[in-house]
Amino acid sequence: MNYQYLRYLARTGITYLHPHRREATELLIAQLDLRPGEQVLEIGCGSGATLVEIALRYPVQLRGIDLLEEMLAVARRRVRLCGLTGRIQLQQGRENIPLPFADASFDKVYCESVLGIQDAASAQLMLGEIYRVLKPGGRFVTNEAIWKTGIPEDRIATINRAGLSNFGLRQASEEPWTLPNWLALFRTHGFTAIACPLLADLPRTSGTLPVRPQPGKRWRSEALTRMLQLKSLLHPGLLRERRRYRQLLHQHRGDGQFVEARLFTLLKTRKVFDEAALP
Ligand SMILES: C[S@@+](CC[C@H](N)C(=O)[O-])C[C@H]1O[C@@H](n2cnc3c(N)ncnc32)[C@H](O)[C@@H]1O
Repeated sequence: MNYQYLRYLARTGITYLHPHRREATELLIAQLDLRPGEQVLEIGCGSGATLVEIALRYPVQLRGIDLLEEMLAVARRRVRLCGLTGRIQLQQGRENIPLPFADASFDKVYCESVLGIQDAASAQLMLGEIYRVLKPGGRFVTNEAIWKTGIPEDRIATINRAGLSNFGLRQASEEPWTLPNWLALFRTHGFTAIACPLLADLPRTSGTLPVRPQPGKRWRSEALTRMLQLKSLLHPGLLRERRRYRQLLHQHRGDGQFVEARLFTLLKTRKVFDEAALP
């Protein structure tokens, strides 16, 4: 994947780039069940909005890793602007190499629409690495768009091929993995799923989390997003890309009906290697 669309979106100040956007992030934060002093990792942190949101609510230490320099550049600005450089560390990751962290160094790990778009080998490597860097009993929470049951394999292959060509990324997993396949994959990698509801079925949470963010600093994060959005509307090159992607998105508008967005909450338990359980 070359992530050409994500590189463009980073320059437009995009945040919460996953199904159900900010609402899904609120639900994910609630599921993380954060405690003071915990070490928390986000894989695929994008422009850093979720990291900042968590840091403004909970006294935890955060690390964010992403492949794209364009995303990290915005995330670094956001963290600096919010005065959170002592609480959030960012670094660039690379595809298909182990995470640059020691074993058992995190209490919680989370992703938002990162695992679900990988090819089979990368998804398995990522899960193995998440298992390794989590402390025993640690929690992994992720919101992902996965294939609905019953979609023909050739339809999935066609959608993903077009997504890779037009946007540089897949709609969902390379393999036709549905919910039972994902649950088996998690189990094989040593995770016990404690919940996996459809995001569309969950009650709305905005403002109901027990801890409120610090309003002044959150405002700075939102101001950065707005400023980048505005700048992108005044930039001729980005405006051209915007027009092109709008047309492409229109062509792909039906693809979303084949996926469902779920919020997985998983506990690191014990690895039972069972080839037969692999999807
Ligand atoms: C769909 S975007 C979601 C971004 C962010 N999580 C959000 O919700 O706004 C996927 C992000 O994951 C990053 N990514 C994909 N594969 C990754 C990997 N193996 N390691 C780190 N980041 C990755 C991409 O660069 C991109 O920023």
